[in-house]
Amino acid sequence: RIAYVNGRYVPHADAAVHVEDRGYQFADGVYEVVLVYNGRMVDEIPHLDRLDRSLGELRIPSPMSRPALRSVMRELLRRNRIHTGLIYMQVTRGVARRDHPFPKNAQPSLVMTAKRIALPTGAAVENGVRVISIPDIRWERCDIKTVALLPNVLGKQQAKEAGAYEAWQVDRDGYVTEGTSTNAWIVTKDGELVTRNANQAILNGITRLTLLKLAERENLRLVERGFTIEEAKRAREAFISSATSFVTPVTQIDDAVIGNGKAGSVGLGLRRAYLDYAE
Ligand code: PDD
Repeated sequence: RIAYVNGRYVPHADAAVHVEDRGYQFADGVYEVVLVYNGRMVDEIPHLDRLDRSLGELRIPSPMSRPALRSVMRELLRRNRIHTGLIYMQVTRGVARRDHPFPKNAQPSLVMTAKRIALPTGAAVENGVRVISIPDIRWERCDIKTVALLPNVLGKQQAKEAGAYEAWQVDRDGYVTEGTSTNAWIVTKDGELVTRNANQAILNGITRLTLLKLAERENLRLVERGFTIEEAKRAREAFISSATSFVTPVTQIDDAVIGNGKAGSVGLGLRRAYLDYAE
């Protein structure tokens, strides 16, 4: 495997950043994960737009022009011979002697890796996954895709130890914000497709945005609003979305079985529509 580190393509095993990189010391950086499906990057431009937005919110300068960034992405896929997989890119404020305020002359660091992924089998998708609910203990700018992911890491570990695939984070009022690395969706008993409205409480997923467009095209009854964990447990269907999980049906939330315990038709339909779109 080959990684890209600050202007150079290096063997993955040798890819390293400086010990005083602010990403390492302060989590002072942002990232993106882009799905590559059958040789195509899915929603490349929206991902790069979101990267720019995250950088802008943190006042980190762009490490390079967009055309240059896009050619690094392509070159990395070529060198790693990736047909279906993921690109991970991370930009930090750069290397400087440890001091909390922004350094004066730091150059932003850019690293990029790529890996192959295998798609889940039909049976795995049909059975769906379990999620647990946990309190949302994150900060108030979850709209920025920063590498400061400690609450997410702890939540995902808690899910794993509970034998679940994901943890849905619940705010103080009992409303689900999102998963630790996915957006959350339900289909209510009366057939309404619901996902939380995007504000500073969630990351506005690129997959989420594409699914909203696809749902509209399929004339689904769609509402962007918060829903409580109780409403989710009573839902007809539930699923999660992200660049790495596309649409993955949820068939259990804590101890509540969703629908008949199998993937629902709306979720499966959107999964198919998304993969057709990605193709
Ligand atoms: N996670 N919410 C959170 C907190 C996320 O970290 C992600 C993505 C999403 C879904 O966003 P998108 O549809 O743009 O992938 C929602 C990436 C995949 C990750 O951390 O690996």
